[in-house]
Amino acid sequence: MKHQNKYELLSKKQQEAQLGGGEKRIEAQHSKGKLTARERLDLLLDPGSFEEIGMLVTHRSKHFGLDKQTFLGDGVITGYGSIDGRLVYVFSQDFTVLGGSLAEAHAEKICRIMDLAMKNGAPVIGLNDSGGARIQEGVVSLGGYADIFYRNTRASGVIPQLSAIMGPCAGGAVYSPAITDFTLMVEDSSYMFVTGPNVVKTVTHETVTSEELGGASTHAEKSGVTHFACLNETDCIRHLRKLLRYMPQNCEEKPLCLPYTPSNEQRPALNHIVPENPNQPYDIREVIREVIDPESFLEVHKDYAENMVVGFAHLAGKSIGIVANQPAFLAGVLDIKSSTKAARFVRFCDAFNIPLLVFEDVPGFLPGTDQEWNGIITNGAKLLYAFCEATVPRITVITRKAYGGAYDVMNSKHIGADMNFAWPTAEIAVMGAKGAAEIIFRQEIAAAEDPEAKLKEKELAYGEQFAHPYEAAARGYVDEVIMPEQTRAKLIRAFAMLDNKSESLPQKKHGNIPL
Ligand code: HXC
Repeated sequence: MKHQNKYELLSKKQQEAQLGGGEKRIEAQHSKGKLTARERLDLLLDPGSFEEIGMLVTHRSKHFGLDKQTFLGDGVITGYGSIDGRLVYVFSQDFTVLGGSLAEAHAEKICRIMDLAMKNGAPVIGLNDSGGARIQEGVVSLGGYADIFYRNTRASGVIPQLSAIMGPCAGGAVYSPAITDFTLMVEDSSYMFVTGPNVVKTVTHETVTSEELGGASTHAEKSGVTHFACLNETDCIRHLRKLLRYMPQNCEEKPLCLPYTPSNEQRPALNHIVPENPNQPYDIREVIREVIDPESFLEVHKDYAENMVVGFAHLAGKSIGIVANQPAFLAGVLDIKSSTKAARFVRFCDAFNIPLLVFEDVPGFLPGTDQEWNGIITNGAKLLYAFCEATVPRITVITRKAYGGAYDVMNSKHIGADMNFAWPTAEIAVMGAKGAAEIIFRQEIAAAEDPEAKLKEKELAYGEQFAHPYEAAARGYVDEVIMPEQTRAKLIRAFAMLDNKSESLPQKKHGNIPL
C-alpha cells in the first residue's frame, strides 16, 4: 500500500511551482461554460499526465435498438494521471452518450480503476454526469451500480474518494457520491435527486423545479448532501485539486507537508476578537484565519449548519482539520445538523491521519421539541462518538463558553484530546451563571424581599466560582491558560510534540456509531 509519490521526490521549489501551475490553467478556462467529459479531465489533471484505460470498450446489450449503435468507451472515460505530481485514478461520465447512463460495461470500467486505486493506494475522483441506471439494459445496470457501491464502501477510509457532480445526476448516480468522502456540485448546472421532478409530480403531486429539488444551493444549505457549491465547472475542478493538498494518498500515509519557514508566530490581533460582553457574537473564522498559515483555510459544508465551522488548513505547513463552534450563528449552539456535520468531518480526518484542532465557544445543546423529536440525543451522540474514537493528535482551544454536555463533547481531555488550552475569557461550567442561579437558588430568590437583586447576587457568586478557566486548570482538565496572541505558537509546538502519536483502538470488528 505505502508508496512514495512523485511529488515527494520534487524539491521544495518544484513543489511550489507545481501547486501554482494548475491554478493558472484553470484560470484560463474560467470564461468557458459547460465542458466536455474529456475537457474536464484535461483541466483536472497535470498536463500530459492522463493515461486512458478501456477506451475501446463497448456495451453488449441488444435491446431497444442498442444493437444498431456502438459507443466507444460506453459513455465514460476512465484512467489515471497526476495532480500536483501525485497519482490519482479518475472517471468522467459523458452525458452526450445515452445521458451518461450506467450499464454493464460502463460500470466495469469504473470498477477497474477503483480496484487499481485500492491496490496502489491512491485517491479516486469521479466526475459524475449521468441519468443513472441505463434503462435499456435492465438488471445489468442495477448490478453495475451495486458493484460500484460495494467498492465505494470497501474503499472508504482506505483511499480518499471525491465526487464532483457536473450535470443532472439521478438514481444510482447519486448514491455512489453519497458514500464517497466529499461531494462537490456546480451552481445552476448540476442536480442530484433519487427521482426527478416528473416522478415527484406523479407520486406526491408536488410541483418542483430541478434546481429547487436537487440543485447545488439546495444540497449545500438544506440537505447537506454536497460539501461544496462551486460557481462553475472550473471552480469545481479547482476545489478538487485544492482538497487533495490536505490529504494523504491513503490511510497509511501522513498528509502532504508544505514548505514552511518559522518566523514570529505571535498574533496580537487575536487579543481583540472575543467581545467583553459574553453574550455578544463574533466570527470564529477571524480566529481561525489569524491562527493558521495565510490563505490556507478550505471551509467544508460552508452553508450548512453554520453554527459549526469545519474545514482544512495548514499550520506551519502541516495539514490539520478544524472543528469550531460559530458564536455568530445561533450563538454556536450544538444541534442535530451541526453535530452530524462535525462528526463526519472528524471521522474523515481521523481515517486519513489529519490532526484535529477544535475551537470551542458553545452554550450547550439546543433545547426544544423539534430537536428532541428529531433525535438530538442520537445525533449529538454521533459527534461524541467520533471524537472518542479518533486517535489522531487532537487539541482544543476554549475561547469562551464551554457549558454543559457540550464541554464534554467538544474534544475535552476526558474523551481523549491530547492538549486543552483556554483563553482567559473561557467559562467552563454546567451552564451560564444566570440559568444556574435561577435553578439552584430558586427558593432563596423567591423568598427574598427583592428577588431581582437576589438573583443578581447569586449570579455573580456562581460566575466568580465557575465563569473562568482556572477551576478546570487546577484539575488539569485545561493544560494551560494562554493569552490569545500566543495561540499559534503554542499550537505549532504542541502539534510538533504530538507528531509521532500512536494509539490503537481495542481489537474489534467495527464500532457501532449511533446512526
Ligand atoms: C438511458 C437515459 C437515461 C437513463 C437519460 N437518458 N437518462 N437513457 N437511461 N437512465 C437519455 C435520454 O433518453 C436522452 O436521450 C438523453 O439521455 C438526455 O436526457 P434528457 O432527459 O433529454 O436530459 P435532461 O432534460 O437534462 O434530464 C436529465 C435527467 C433525465 C434528469 C437525468 O434524463 C432523467 O430523469 N433521466 C432518467 C433518470 C432515472 O430515472 N434513472 C434511472 C434511475 S434508477 P435522447 O436520445 O433523447 O437524447 C437507478 C437505480 C440505481 O439509477 C440503484 C440505486 C440504489
